[in-house]
Amino acid sequence: MTTGLRKGLTSYGDAGFSLFLRKAFIKAMGYSDDALERPIVGITNTFSDYNPCHGNVPDLIESVKRGVMLAGGLPMVFPTISIGESFAHPTSMFLRNLMAMDTEEMIKAQPMDSVVLLGGCDKTLPAQVMAAASADLPTVVLQTGPMVVGNHKGEVLGACTDCRRMWAQHRAGNIDLVEIETISGRLCPSVGTCSVMGTASTMACIVEALGLALPCSATAPAPLADRRRIAEASGKRAAEIAIAGKPKPSDLLTPASVRNAMIVLQAIGGSTNGLIHLIAIAGRAGVPFDLAAFDQLGRVIPVLLNLKPSGAHYMEHLHHAGGLPALMRELTAFLDLDAPNVSGGTLGDAIAAAEQVPNQDVIRSFASPLKPEGAMAILYGNVAPLGAVIKHSAASPHLLRHTGRAVVFDSIEDMTNRIDDLNLDVAAEDILVLRNAGPRGAPGMPEAGYLPIPMKLARQGVKDMVRISDARMSGTAFGTIVLHIAPESAVGGPLAIVHNGDQILLDVESRRLELLIADAELEQRLAALKQSPQQRETPQRGYAKLFEDCVLQADQGCDFDFLLRDGARTTPKKDE
Ligand code: FES
Repeated sequence: MTTGLRKGLTSYGDAGFSLFLRKAFIKAMGYSDDALERPIVGITNTFSDYNPCHGNVPDLIESVKRGVMLAGGLPMVFPTISIGESFAHPTSMFLRNLMAMDTEEMIKAQPMDSVVLLGGCDKTLPAQVMAAASADLPTVVLQTGPMVVGNHKGEVLGACTDCRRMWAQHRAGNIDLVEIETISGRLCPSVGTCSVMGTASTMACIVEALGLALPCSATAPAPLADRRRIAEASGKRAAEIAIAGKPKPSDLLTPASVRNAMIVLQAIGGSTNGLIHLIAIAGRAGVPFDLAAFDQLGRVIPVLLNLKPSGAHYMEHLHHAGGLPALMRELTAFLDLDAPNVSGGTLGDAIAAAEQVPNQDVIRSFASPLKPEGAMAILYGNVAPLGAVIKHSAASPHLLRHTGRAVVFDSIEDMTNRIDDLNLDVAAEDILVLRNAGPRGAPGMPEAGYLPIPMKLARQGVKDMVRISDARMSGTAFGTIVLHIAPESAVGGPLAIVHNGDQILLDVESRRLELLIADAELEQRLAALKQSPQQRETPQRGYAKLFEDCVLQADQGCDFDFLLRDGARTTPKKDE
């Protein structure tokens, strides 16, 4: 088998010359023949001034390189796209598939025997794992790690559940402009990913549960020495699997590991984005993803993690309580403990080695969970025939069965223009509806599903309302919010036919989301929509056109159709 520098020679029609030329150029960097004969470990450099969540990447690269060299490998760092959540327009999700393509192609194009994928901010880890599944080269994933917490007036703060809570207080007039500016300097006191169970932390845990990262790698805070030691160990392990040629992602991404990740996603109170990304990863691996099974797991797996936004603590507290292996110890009756880990052992081995931390309140026992059910439920109904999701662990219990009058916004722009109009006809019992905010409609399915409470209601002290949309929502948000309605309205989904004033029923217990109109009226509205579909401008060039033409709906992970393994869809339709 061709390895190291001899892999994937540039095509000049003369293999000997290709290798000679490659060596001649790389020697310009001062490499010796001894170094160039070693197995090569590629390391993705996702540092960017636009991505503070990756601010420790240069330090981590040094630690990874040290580990690679300790095990006799040659580390080779290469750049890929980096996506910083709050710096990506129109939304980071629009760029996830681009990063996945970039990462996959650069892994395949350059000579390397294994790769360390160094990522953290929301869309980077899923993009990298999607790439790894497609490239199928031995891979270790290394998360950048969560930020440490901040403090304000004696209160512990963390991005970004508290960003939203503080901003809501500011909108309601309880925090003035001076104080909110002060708070903005305290919410993110270090580099690293958001310190609550948002999408970045969710994906860090999913990656560890899938067996693609070393045990405890999801939780070690970004600035701590533990994080660098994990980086060194990841580099060392990457060199070992470069020499062994295995395990490959295809050895680790199996129906068993995907099910393990589903269980962890429910038990950690994970982000709804995590569900989309896990479906996309499964799609790249050719593992069927069963939304009904995910929902069913949510009925038996309680939320065990007492972390914001579902609970009280932050990621660094989870790390000090034993990290993900300690949490998974509570779930051993459900997990497949034989699932292999990139560390060389099994999930069972990682759990057996988990620390026992007395008197901690971060990881609850099965007998005393934070919430009686899992984080998420999958809803169906005439307004969401291919499904929708609600993170009911971070919702108001009294709104989980609710009927209300629809107040409809036709687009994000429409919502932005009218939501704070004091003349808006809206009451606390109404249901806010946002459409044309899905994968194609927006495009990129922005995190606009967390519709703000209309100003006039916020000032009356209203903290939560039922909100439904085809958009996504940050994993750090709290509220009774139905997301990912599929198919989206922009492609003719029934969300497009909801009228202002219609009654809508949300019933999480029976997993229903229904537009309460007569069947004949529903059919009539759908037929009219089919006859004169909504007109919208579609992109004609570049990546935006590729996205428009190829992006799949939320129930299929929003990957591009041509990137799925074998081009097959991964989630059966509800009635299939
Ligand atoms: Fe990067 Fe939250 S903004 S992880």
